[in-house]
Amino acid sequence: MVNAKIIGLGGYVPEKIYDNAYMESIVDTSDEWITRRTGVKERHISADNEYTTDMAAIAAKRALENAGVSAEEIELIILATVTPDYFTPSCACVVQNSIGAVNAAAFDINAACSSFVTGLTIAKQFIASETYKKILVVCADTLSKATDYNDRATCVLFGDAAGAAVVAATDEPGIIATEIGADGTGCKSITQLAYRDDEEEVEKRVSHDKKSIWMAGQAVMKFAVKAMADSTLRVVEKAGLTMDDIALVVPHQANYRIVESAIKRMGITDDKIYLTLEKYGNTSASCIPVALSEAAAAGRIKKGDKIVLVGFGGGLTWGALVMQW
Ligand code: UT7
Repeated sequence: MVNAKIIGLGGYVPEKIYDNAYMESIVDTSDEWITRRTGVKERHISADNEYTTDMAAIAAKRALENAGVSAEEIELIILATVTPDYFTPSCACVVQNSIGAVNAAAFDINAACSSFVTGLTIAKQFIASETYKKILVVCADTLSKATDYNDRATCVLFGDAAGAAVVAATDEPGIIATEIGADGTGCKSITQLAYRDDEEEVEKRVSHDKKSIWMAGQAVMKFAVKAMADSTLRVVEKAGLTMDDIALVVPHQANYRIVESAIKRMGITDDKIYLTLEKYGNTSASCIPVALSEAAAAGRIKKGDKIVLVGFGGGLTWGALVMQW
């Protein structure tokens, strides 16, 4: 039986920081409100000339180095973003070129913030079918370039980051069980416009622009708590385990209140959660790989530990998986 296992991780956040004091200077908000209602203190913001594929390539190179794998060994690049440099070429192809992964097939996916779990789930299928042995899953977003900095309900949440994982075929235990899902009835809960002429969407935005993210915060929050907790419990059961067997849960980092309610529903305490929310805010699909990479580097994960990764996001989508480190 061929298993798929993460053998290397890399993360990247840009240098520039917008702290809560800066947010207070641009919209009608306060450090007290942002901290109490979201848990975010700082977000990292890409430079004007720094784009998704630039950040993705850095995270990808770091993951390859961490895994001790050369770019030429990679057979597939799966890249997740909602802020691509171009619709075509895919960001995966741009990154393939910039890191020199000359032997890799490459494509982009979009399951919004659930994309890291979705990407790992796809990687696991290619490995289980013995199509590929080494796959790079990269998540990267420059959400700051799609943020309405006149909308206090969204601009305090988002930051920029990239995270990557090298997934390899192994006979050791790796990704044990996965679940991905979608609820299209919530497709208008988080929106970013492309070519469709949708005046109603433009009107909803504080700046009435076509480039920014709009979100029905309360509705997403309600969906998120249930989706994260329930998919985690289902996937843990599917793996033949209980929450007592889980050493660490690395969730999508959207709002501390969502995480708090979800872990209550999962029946675990907050010492089993790894958070980077305070430092980076919500960086879309990159939240989980960046947090996982930092948790591993900080020694929060030991060989043999069973870990849950769980995300939710636009679509609406969700994804959860259990893996053995
Ligand atoms: O990865 C994508 C997934 N996205 C998410 O997970 C986001 C989920 N949603 C949330 O995190 C929360 O809904 C928000 C943080 C976006 C908003 O928090 P909330 O507790 O749901 O606030 P609310 O929308 O119910 O608004 C309550 C009040 C409103 O004022 P009024 O109408 O009561 O006077 C808002 O205008 O808070 C106001 N408000 C703010 N006040 C100060 C909204 N944003 C801010 C702000 N500073 N930044």
